[in-house]
Amino acid sequence: MCYKTGQIYLLPTGARAGAGVMVPAARRRQYGALSRLGDPPVDDLDLIIDLHADGPRQGPGGADETRLALTLAGLPGRTDLRIADVGCGTGASTLVLAEALDATIVAVDFVPEFLARLADAAASHGVADRVTPLRASMRALPLPAASCDVIWSEGAIYNMGFEAGVAAWRQFLKPQGVLAVTELTWLTAERPAALQAHWAREYPEVDTAAGKMAVLERHGFSPVGYFPLPAHCWLDNYYRPMQQRFDGYLDRHGHSDAARALVQAERSEIALYERYRDYVGYGFYVARKVA
Ligand SMILES: C[S@@+](CC[C@H](N)C(=O)[O-])C[C@H]1O[C@@H](n2cnc3c(N)ncnc32)[C@H](O)[C@@H]1O
Repeated sequence: MCYKTGQIYLLPTGARAGAGVMVPAARRRQYGALSRLGDPPVDDLDLIIDLHADGPRQGPGGADETRLALTLAGLPGRTDLRIADVGCGTGASTLVLAEALDATIVAVDFVPEFLARLADAAASHGVADRVTPLRASMRALPLPAASCDVIWSEGAIYNMGFEAGVAAWRQFLKPQGVLAVTELTWLTAERPAALQAHWAREYPEVDTAAGKMAVLERHGFSPVGYFPLPAHCWLDNYYRPMQQRFDGYLDRHGHSDAARALVQAERSEIALYERYRDYVGYGFYVARKVA
């Protein structure tokens, strides 16, 4: 498995890449499901992918919430949309977009196993002709400038940081193009000190919705919609299915120290969310590029 920065690899629809995953080497402060992708030991990356590949999604979210966001964005009824779904994982949001909209979608991720599953799912949903998996880094999207009507990204922009992602992806949007992303957000003005300390350490960019919207405005976007993801997007759609996979996963990996550590990290994250879900969650941000 290679370990390089800024490389771009293309994966044809349906292809199963046999080579290892290319991981940007830059140090990243992260959280959540794939949080330990920052400078991972190679074995850990395989373990992380194996834990998440079978899930219905790789981060919190839901089909109804994806549809709500695309309604807030004013996309239903528009024709011939060009969309990039960045950090698409196995395609939970990609499939909703493909089925709801008249659009062609480039589904971008750097994990070939996820893209292969997405390609299979697109085929079985009858939308393969409108979904193109693209193996690439979100830090260096190989897209033409001003080519997208929409950039969509659920649970993924944190990998490069919200502000860096907003700033970097703007160039790929047409004038008036839509940016729709979910991002870790404080749901209240104040919060328990232990929670504050945890996220200050793990993801210092966590902020209130007002703070995130100020970032969007600073980078040439006009916010047009926001809502916090409901708890079922975390618990029913993401954490509970993962919990059900823990036993099989540990058996598959012979209860190795690394596999047990990964499961323990997920259990801790779940406990943290269950305890503090009134204070922190994902916000869904929809914004329009100001020309
Ligand atoms: C928490 S998962 C969310 C996946 C999907 N959007 C969903 O909601 O189920 C984050 C995704 O970002 C991808 N990712 C992380 N860093 C990336 C990078 N630098 N370039 C491209 N994809 C990346 C991961 O492989 C993973 O699929």
